[in-house]
Amino acid sequence: MRLDGKVALITGAGSGLGRESAQLFAAEGARVAVVDIDAERAEHTVQLVERQGGTACAIVADVADEAAVTRSVETTLGAFGKLDIMFANAGIISRGGVPTVAGGEQVEFQDLTDADWQRVVSVNLSGVFYCAKAAVPAMRRNGGGTIVATSSAASLVAYPAAAIYSATKAGVNGLVRGLSLDLGKYGIRVNAIAPTHGMSPNFLAPTGAPVVGRSYEEVAGPWDPAVSPIPLKLNRPPSLRDNANVALFLASDESAYLSGLTVPTTDGGTLSRVAMAFDEDAAAS
Ligand SMILES: NC(=O)c1ccc[n+]([C@@H]2O[C@H](COP(=O)([O-])OP(=O)(O)OC[C@H]3O[C@@H](n4cnc5c(N)ncnc54)[C@H](O)[C@@H]3O)[C@@H](O)[C@H]2O)c1
Repeated sequence: MRLDGKVALITGAGSGLGRESAQLFAAEGARVAVVDIDAERAEHTVQLVERQGGTACAIVADVADEAAVTRSVETTLGAFGKLDIMFANAGIISRGGVPTVAGGEQVEFQDLTDADWQRVVSVNLSGVFYCAKAAVPAMRRNGGGTIVATSSAASLVAYPAAAIYSATKAGVNGLVRGLSLDLGKYGIRVNAIAPTHGMSPNFLAPTGAPVVGRSYEEVAGPWDPAVSPIPLKLNRPPSLRDNANVALFLASDESAYLSGLTVPTTDGGTLSRVAMAFDEDAAAS
């Protein structure tokens, strides 16, 4: 097992990638602190982990609140005695973000408010800073550790109506690079994943919606690789587990000499495309 004897704290673990990772990390031997702003979701993830024979505890915290994040680490240390892995995964989209995908509220850029900006920055960027800051003392006592953050493909390319979101995720990439340089001497590695496909539709759903537990592509109906925008045409859709597997790699000792990287996960070649229109079939023949 890749995480035998390890203790992991995962934020945003009540749904989507966080829940999938809690289940995967536990299956790989980790005891998991399941942190979410939504108590019911966190409790449900703990039940799922326990049902598969794993060990987890639920912690309710808003990652935008530094004191709450610090308390989450203290609670984890109280329950499990140490912290090896901090997976700072919780994140939110800005109001009106990616409207073409969500079919939701349309918000013109000039109508976004300072409160919109502050909330997304607080959760997506300050939240990762608070998680790293709270984890480092425990990891230093432990002789090292690994911090993984969830960034996004939106940190690397543009998405419609997602400028605030993209800025926060690009900030996460920079934070990870800087922290990796400062923390390497303590045996602490810092990396991010930038999911592109295979992610959680709950992300664009209202808070309190039932947790889907499958990816956009899995719920979209029969999978047709020929019409998928993903250049790598596998015979199955990308899944939350595909993304969680990369988080697991970065959390485990298998990536012992990787730090400071943002890895585009479950990308399928999308980010390898050129930013101009051309006939791909003609180019391939
Ligand atoms: N789903 C996507 O389209 C997509 C794509 C790329 C990256 N991401 C990133 O993936 C990460 C995980 O999101 P997901 O796709 O699994 O979405 P999700 O909505 O399914 O899960 C996110 C979880 O985080 C919790 N959460 C929200 N705000 C929080 C806060 N302030 N404090 C603590 N918990 C909070 C939610 O209650 C939810 O359970 C996020 O950082 C997101 O930005 C998502």
